[in-house]
Amino acid sequence: MFLGIDIGSGGTKVILLNKEGKMIGSAEVSYSFDVPKEGWTEHDPEEWWIATTKALKTLFINNDSSNIEAIGVTGQMHSSVLLDLNGQIIRKAILWNDQRTELECKEVLNQIGEERFRSFTMNTLFPGFTIPKIIWLKKNEPENYKKITTIFMPKDFINYKLTGVIATDVTDASGTGIFDVYNRKWNKNLIDGLGLEPEWFPPVYESIEVIGKLESSVADTLGLKEGIPVVAGAADNAAAAIGNGVFNENKGLISVGTSGVVLVPINNRPAKELLTKTNSSLHIFCHALPNTWYAMGVTLTAGESLKWFREAFELEESYENLILNAKDVEVGSNGLIFTPYLSGERTPHNDSTARGSFNGMNLTHRKGHFVRAILEGVSYSLKDCHDLIKNIAHPESFVITGGAIKSEYWSHILSDVLGVMLKKSTQFEGPAIGAAILAGMGIRHWKAPDEVTNGVEEVIINPNTEHYFLYKNIFKKYQDLYERLSQNNV
Ligand code: XUL
Repeated sequence: MFLGIDIGSGGTKVILLNKEGKMIGSAEVSYSFDVPKEGWTEHDPEEWWIATTKALKTLFINNDSSNIEAIGVTGQMHSSVLLDLNGQIIRKAILWNDQRTELECKEVLNQIGEERFRSFTMNTLFPGFTIPKIIWLKKNEPENYKKITTIFMPKDFINYKLTGVIATDVTDASGTGIFDVYNRKWNKNLIDGLGLEPEWFPPVYESIEVIGKLESSVADTLGLKEGIPVVAGAADNAAAAIGNGVFNENKGLISVGTSGVVLVPINNRPAKELLTKTNSSLHIFCHALPNTWYAMGVTLTAGESLKWFREAFELEESYENLILNAKDVEVGSNGLIFTPYLSGERTPHNDSTARGSFNGMNLTHRKGHFVRAILEGVSYSLKDCHDLIKNIAHPESFVITGGAIKSEYWSHILSDVLGVMLKKSTQFEGPAIGAAILAGMGIRHWKAPDEVTNGVEEVIINPNTEHYFLYKNIFKKYQDLYERLSQNNV
């Protein structure tokens, strides 16, 4: 059996895969990240560890843990976990959707030169990435900055708790803003140029490499046997792709969780010319299999938009029932358009000052119109990502996954907006399954992810042509709204 652990933004999920690759158990512990200030997001890494231990205890109530052969961990990307000399957490992690470092990004890009920076990392620098947060800390919390001995990401922290080993993997290192994605190693020029210490950056492994073994002290607490191999694991989007069999150029992934992503694998070392084929708001990162990369567009507030709406208006109903309010609302929500930039946006605008809006409200609008407008607005934002991806790759099909898009209703809206046939996975634990597959590959039980994922049932969602053409027009209005409301235009 293989154990997969996913440190998500809204909860920690754990799953068990048997040796045939079938998911035989799962458990989840939910939590929320802190919003200490508008545009800021933080989370205490210790809460991730506590949630992991709780979720595992629940999992092992009905599942025997004695046959677990390897463990893989995945988690939200970019969020900065900082350790001091004693291996203790210095401060709360600053998360992937935090927007406080716009100034620091500009300073770094000015100092290094944007083109040179992109030639070093294959990416531009976004406020959510890890390194601008460290530079922010230097200016704003110098006492914490001075204590840094390790910079790594949420899943690396859990690996450290499990094994005592400080390490990261190529997929998570890719999102720091200091990693040479092309050559899969830290970029020395940037580390020196920005006055950072090379020792802060842990050894980088491929995702399927074993980094250590489960320590006896934690094994007891978790109800596991000691010495189980733990692989380096992968960032959540890479792991979700693996968990859905997305690692070849013919198949892309659209994932709608707290964030939303459109991702396509790249099988050969990505040509540097790729950088000129589209705007810099796409990410080019290392994938979780050796010699594979991927291109990705990111919508920062996807499922989180609906969560925000439900919480802001103190709605008690389940998400399923909330979406039911919209069932009779027609394409276009009777003129109501939502832009989902509640926490700035990466793709396609790379604008941390962008904010959300409902536009076109009229006296006919009711709760259902607002709900549908949110589902449509997030879908438009994913269309923006998809349109950019189309400049560099043309997968034959896209798999959709993610906790937020369990709803058939939303899946059809997304397919209609994109005008693309979608294959909807019946398993929504994609990242955790991906992590467990990486664990199985790490001990050579499986050679490739599709040995597991080929058997998973998919539901085909075909776009409605009439709706597609209606949405095409509304999409223009949606794009126009950003231009009109952008603070950059004020
Ligand atoms: C990707 C990103 C998000 C997080 C969410 O670059 O920031 O998708 O990984 O967990």
